[in-house]
Amino acid sequence: MKNIYSNILSFNKKNLSKTINFLKKGKVVGLPTETVYGLAGNAYSKKAIKKIYSLKKRPKKNPLIVHYLRFQEADKDVILNTNFFKLYKRFCPGPITFVLKKRKKSKIQSSVTAKLNTVAIRFPKHSTTRSILKKINFPLAMPSANLSTGISPVSAKDVSEEFKKNIKIIINGGNSKIGIESTVVSLTGRPKILRPGIIGAEIINKFLKISTSKNISKIRSPGMLKRHYSPGIPILLNQKKAPKNCALITFGGKYKDRVNHFNLSKKSDLKEAASNLYKTFRKIKKQKLKKIYVVKIPNQGPGIPINDRLKRAAH
Ligand code: TXA
Ligand code: MG
Repeated sequence: MKNIYSNILSFNKKNLSKTINFLKKGKVVGLPTETVYGLAGNAYSKKAIKKIYSLKKRPKKNPLIVHYLRFQEADKDVILNTNFFKLYKRFCPGPITFVLKKRKKSKIQSSVTAKLNTVAIRFPKHSTTRSILKKINFPLAMPSANLSTGISPVSAKDVSEEFKKNIKIIINGGNSKIGIESTVVSLTGRPKILRPGIIGAEIINKFLKISTSKNISKIRSPGMLKRHYSPGIPILLNQKKAPKNCALITFGGKYKDRVNHFNLSKKSDLKEAASNLYKTFRKIKKQKLKKIYVVKIPNQGPGIPINDRLKRAAH
């Protein structure tokens, strides 16, 4: 019998054309990106989008991100503005998502945007997914390839364990380098960060003024849901130690290697810590430890999205 990982394919010419044929038929596939792995389908196909929502068990009101090769392709579907180009020039392709006004003539399925008049668009950097985007004439709706509210996958194996035989193709693109989801920035009015990511407000602020007003309740964004990114085990934050049979997630050189201790970055590198976060959650879950205790993580730079995800996972 084939094992559960037999849907993981290496990236070669044959598998590339197989993947493209699947996508053209409105089927969905698992693809690597530099942030996390995604569950990809034709954003113009009703069938594909329906499949994405049902596989993820995702609430219909949570819109999906649409992925393009370049701004020239996105221009058909959304109204690109000056603020967009300021950030596009500096950060794309890369781990940032822009919420923009949808064009009336756009062919994007209304289910992709949860019937909103805006679309979240992204230009992924991973070369595998870019070579697929080069060969198709439609954009890819691609949420993280995990069940709704769970942990985002950072390897092809993670995706396979999440959906088992329910998806037929997962392209292996190695471990996602960044390891947490893209920054989501709304550019329809005053620029606002809807989901923090590795590209932080501090650096975006060098190109345009980010509004820090807390009044974002009107913007629907499941990344803003209180409980999300959850490993399904109780999580306690700002801890110093953990009892027996529990995990302690640590950060920095002062923590020595010990049973059930998981160091996000021994050299206190917050970027490295971000890339290890979901990997560590999955490891702990597999070891069936009862609870997760987490030490205080500095709330600066990549520490901001780390603490955001930890807080939601703990909720
Ligand atoms: O890094 C990423 O962004 C990954 C990779 C696969 O590209 N994708 C990802 O997708 O994280 P997902 O579906 O897990 O998260 C999409 C986020 C959600 O927080 C959603 O609410 C927000 O984008 N979003 C999508 N469309 C939106 C819209 N029109 N307005 C506001 N937020 C939107
Ligand atoms: Mg997600």
